[in-house]
Amino acid sequence: MEILVTGGTGFIGGHLAESFARDGHHVTVVDNLEPYYDLGIKKHNVETSREAAAESGGAYDFVEGTVTNADLLKNLTETVDAIYHQAAQAGVRKSVEEPAKVNEYNVTGTMTVLEAARKNDVDRVVYASSSSVYGKPQYLPYDEDHPNEPVSPYGVSKLSSEHYMRVYNEVYGLPTVSLRYFTVYGPRMRPNMAISNFVSRCMRGEPPQIYGDGKQTRDFTYIDDVVDANRQLLHDDNADGEIMNIGSTDNIDILTLAEVVRDEIDPDLDIEFTDAREGDAEHTHADISKANELIGYEPSRDIRQGVREFIEWYEANRDWYEPLVVNS
Ligand SMILES: NC(=O)c1ccc[n+]([C@@H]2O[C@H](COP(=O)([O-])OP(=O)(O)OC[C@H]3O[C@@H](n4cnc5c(N)ncnc54)[C@H](O)[C@@H]3O)[C@@H](O)[C@H]2O)c1
Repeated sequence: MEILVTGGTGFIGGHLAESFARDGHHVTVVDNLEPYYDLGIKKHNVETSREAAAESGGAYDFVEGTVTNADLLKNLTETVDAIYHQAAQAGVRKSVEEPAKVNEYNVTGTMTVLEAARKNDVDRVVYASSSSVYGKPQYLPYDEDHPNEPVSPYGVSKLSSEHYMRVYNEVYGLPTVSLRYFTVYGPRMRPNMAISNFVSRCMRGEPPQIYGDGKQTRDFTYIDDVVDANRQLLHDDNADGEIMNIGSTDNIDILTLAEVVRDEIDPDLDIEFTDAREGDAEHTHADISKANELIGYEPSRDIRQGVREFIEWYEANRDWYEPLVVNS
């Protein structure tokens, strides 16, 4: 099949592109190589996907460009079967600093992707939404009917895009699915996230650093589970027009997470606390029963197992990954 992955040099898009290329599909990635973190990680993602295509006999093309470019998107989607729309300015803090840019990339970008998909009759558009659309919890875990009250410009941008996904399904009959990811982690993950920061600091003999009191809770979702949910949607139309949480089996507070990482690497290290950051949700926790019913989604790892695997991967890739984490 022909698959377009937007934001496909990023963390999640890079894993999706690699996985589809490994299966022998024809994968095109469009990405503007946003320097949000060290571009070395993105270059590595491109190489990994290219190698996967070469091994499987599939194809991989990387196109540098922005998803807000309507002509480019129209051309790239002419013969495409499915679009996995991952391109966005990720990160809550960045959106507090630059809300207009986040709106342009995340909302206008989504609209541009949808217009191209509609005009070219693409079979399915799968959107990378986020738990940040919930905002203030009225109850936990969040099911998909929980009210949406985002607490950051980023959350607003993801919610607006979700609405466009749903409306394009209802008004134009375009098959769309929105997946609300809950903090994703794993190999080649973004540097500016809790798990990569904690692991990197502990590996360098520095105490893990917590923003705030560490009582915030999160679902941490292993990248392979996110990839599996997306792969299922390549052939499965059960979730067309739907929004689904993609989370993990367990929920953990940030202090405990820091302790888990520290204890795996060097139990003698202290834990450091620094100021809380604006726009961060206090708690996220996913009810994943809808994704389980519709597409058979089942997370494969609990946080301790996933962290252990990430640390193993980090050790094996320390030479190239660690300098990029420290630089970002
Ligand atoms: N990582 C998570 O925990 C998480 C959680 C919830 C939702 N998401 C969503 O998943 C998607 C992927 O996130 P990620 O963690 O891989 O982030 P990432 O920053 O690693 O990947 C995003 C990619 O999009 C590209 N991009 C940004 N603006 C673009 C534009 N205008 N045109 C083309 N490409 C552009 C970037 O260069 C980057 O490579 C995003 O939409 C994000 O909002 C991620």
